[in-house]
Amino acid sequence: MKKVILDLDTGIDDAMALAYILGSPEVQLAGVTGTYGNVSLRQGLRNSLALLDLLGHPEVPVFAGQPHALLACEDYETSGVSAFIHGPNGIGGVELPDSPRSPKAEPAVDFLIRMANECGPDLIYVPTGPLTNLACALRRDPDACHKIGRVVLMGGALTVCGNVTPAAEANISKDPEAADQVFRSGLATTMVGLDVTLQTLLTPGDVDEWHHLGTGAATAYASIVDYYIWAYAQRQPYLGGCGLHDPLAAAVALDPSLVTTVGINLQVDLEGELRGRTIGDLARLNDPRKSTQVALGVDIPRFMQNLMSRVGRALGGGR
Ligand code: BDR
Ligand code: CA
Repeated sequence: MKKVILDLDTGIDDAMALAYILGSPEVQLAGVTGTYGNVSLRQGLRNSLALLDLLGHPEVPVFAGQPHALLACEDYETSGVSAFIHGPNGIGGVELPDSPRSPKAEPAVDFLIRMANECGPDLIYVPTGPLTNLACALRRDPDACHKIGRVVLMGGALTVCGNVTPAAEANISKDPEAADQVFRSGLATTMVGLDVTLQTLLTPGDVDEWHHLGTGAATAYASIVDYYIWAYAQRQPYLGGCGLHDPLAAAVALDPSLVTTVGINLQVDLEGELRGRTIGDLARLNDPRKSTQVALGVDIPRFMQNLMSRVGRALGGGR
């Protein structure tokens, strides 16, 4: 059975990605590694542990990753915008009991390298926050990283504007150097960016299904996602729902046929107004090997069906 590592900056759509993987019987969640972004590393780890307990999976280990971007000197603390979109605690202000567990002593980067060596092509790695942990793993042990079967990341925007600046998407903007190193490393990746994630929207009607499931996990998730939909309605009312960024990356990681892609050798702009933009690397334009598949089309009905059934299963609805 394939093993999945989720690298989460555990906010609301990360929480949905977690439920999506746990509701997918064909894979095993080998571990959650923590990054910063929607919240601090510390709060993200706390959320991951609490959500795993809520979903009835206390056996899944959690590992602490890097607490800040490659070039930063201080640990990342939650920004005002993230606190608005994901709530001050990253999960819509919903208070979950703290897990009695703690993150493992093994650092996230060590865990990723160890699993890459142990599982090779059977390992699927899904980073849904800044790419700092992956960049560190690539620096430390590129050979191990190249053994990973599939790397599907949520981040970037190729054909649409960014959501932090006109050029930059949130995950890439939080550590552009890390993302640039990952893309230029030649590691085979699939980029699930705003081009597709803003085509997949969850509406209040969808969340009502979870409200009606009646389990503690479903009720908590419904309240968490209600907050996210409310926050989206304040900032991007024309969308009519909330973007399913991280769950779409998780879904594509299990079933790449959900998206159509274009092969591009990407780079990230690091200077000035364009800092954080994901764009083709001119120096590798004519290289016939394309290291990144950029998702530009998505089978929305099939993804939404998968999302409702898999998240519903994780929430105890058994669909
Ligand atoms: C990405 O940024 C984070 O806020 C979300 O969790 C998602 O991973 C969307 O730009
Ligand atoms: Ca995320």
